[in-house]
Amino acid sequence: MRTRPLKVALLGCGVVGSEVARIMTTHADDLAARIGAPVELAGVAVRRPDKVREGIDPSLVTTDATALVKRGDIDVVVEVIGGIEPARTLITTAFAHGASVVSANKALLAQDGAALHAAAEEHGKDLYYEAAVAGAIPLIRPLRESLAGDKVNRVLGIVNGTTNFILDKMDSTGAGYQEALDEATALGYAEADPTADVEGFDAAAKAAILAGIAFHTRVRLDDVYREGMTEVTAADFASAKEMGCTIKLLAICERAADGESVTARVHPAMIPLTHPLASVRGAYNAVFVESDASGQLMFYGPGAGGSPTASAVLGDLVAVCRNRLSGTTGPGESAYAALPVSPMGEVVTRYHISLDVADKPGVLAQVATVFAEHGVSIDTVRQQGKDGEASLVVVTHRASDAALNGTVEALRKLDTVRGVASIMRVEGE
Ligand SMILES: NC(=O)c1ccc[n+]([C@@H]2O[C@H](COP(=O)([O-])OP(=O)(O)OC[C@H]3O[C@@H](n4cnc5c(N)ncnc54)[C@H](OP(=O)(O)O)[C@@H]3O)[C@@H](O)[C@H]2O)c1
Repeated sequence: MRTRPLKVALLGCGVVGSEVARIMTTHADDLAARIGAPVELAGVAVRRPDKVREGIDPSLVTTDATALVKRGDIDVVVEVIGGIEPARTLITTAFAHGASVVSANKALLAQDGAALHAAAEEHGKDLYYEAAVAGAIPLIRPLRESLAGDKVNRVLGIVNGTTNFILDKMDSTGAGYQEALDEATALGYAEADPTADVEGFDAAAKAAILAGIAFHTRVRLDDVYREGMTEVTAADFASAKEMGCTIKLLAICERAADGESVTARVHPAMIPLTHPLASVRGAYNAVFVESDASGQLMFYGPGAGGSPTASAVLGDLVAVCRNRLSGTTGPGESAYAALPVSPMGEVVTRYHISLDVADKPGVLAQVATVFAEHGVSIDTVRQQGKDGEASLVVVTHRASDAALNGTVEALRKLDTVRGVASIMRVEGE
């Protein structure tokens, strides 16, 4: 074993960074044996230097992250600050000064992954980010390496624990969205400002990263269609139950049937209770991958939290250190397929539509005509009447999002349709 240690600069020592530092210390001997050289924490950049940090030598703490990555003797920079800047500049500076980088930063990777990969390649360094998607769950490396010989057609995932906790609560207790969110906040599953989670921004960043790797195509955050889950109601769950379904916020990356394009989207959707993703409870994450040769694979586990996320960071750290010792780099960006990313209108799926209609003869025929005129074929219709008003629940066969939108627009114009109570896509069948 080499005795000269590999030097690691830790940028950020919060929820994830503090656990990375702890595991680096407590598992130092095992890590050294697995890598073939000891790893040494050479510096820790933070915002608040005076904060007490258990297990961290205060002499290593600095507020000057730029000086730390520019030292020139750093082998690996672990970026767990988060956000776009200064993380982006620190990562590119690290490459320019000879370090490889491990990051957990989904927001940055989804926005600027291509440029960061290019910078890593230019300097002959590694950029690893297993922790950026679904915390502890091995997903990036299986997609990038284990499935490199297969053709992935679909990635369907629950990649945000906060929203899964909320939806699971709504499902199991009949609670409304706000009540379930309040409980998630009280238990520490939701942030004080839950926007990034409940509006699907966090999941959309992960979808962009997953789609890019799965389809060997650059997929940027802007390419991902996004709908949050704040409008999901207890009534939607009741409808889902009647259909033998539950509701999940899903990140869905798909190759079109002709293989010529891909789509990436995040939205709430009904999935059958028989689908493996339906049984993913609480704040857990799971990703279902469908590919030509392997068939269906499911990856499941804790998608966040300091220690689980640090597990993924440490796995990357070991891999990058091994590469460093053998004078090589791991796989970089693979975007050779360069498939076009289609807009949401071209996505084809099934829909569950709930309409408030006048309870009088001929309404059903009128509604059915609108669906037919837009080429959307109806699978089932259920009608419940009450005091001259009725609710009509229509489940369609597969149709494009554009056709469905045209249908809904036309339905809204019918005198007999009082309102469109909800529209939910049905996935996983
Ligand atoms: N938390 C999770 O469960 C989880 C899961 C997967 C991925 N991630 C990703 O991991 C990253 C870190 O998340 P986290 O939850 O650990 O965040 P966090 O608890 O807020 O920690 C951020 C750390 O960065 C430091 N920092 C902030 N601005 C800085 C600056 N300008 N220069 C130097 N240090 C700075 C902070 O310093 P102070 O300590 O002085 O405030 C803090 O130590 C993010 O990209 C996040 O998306 C997190």
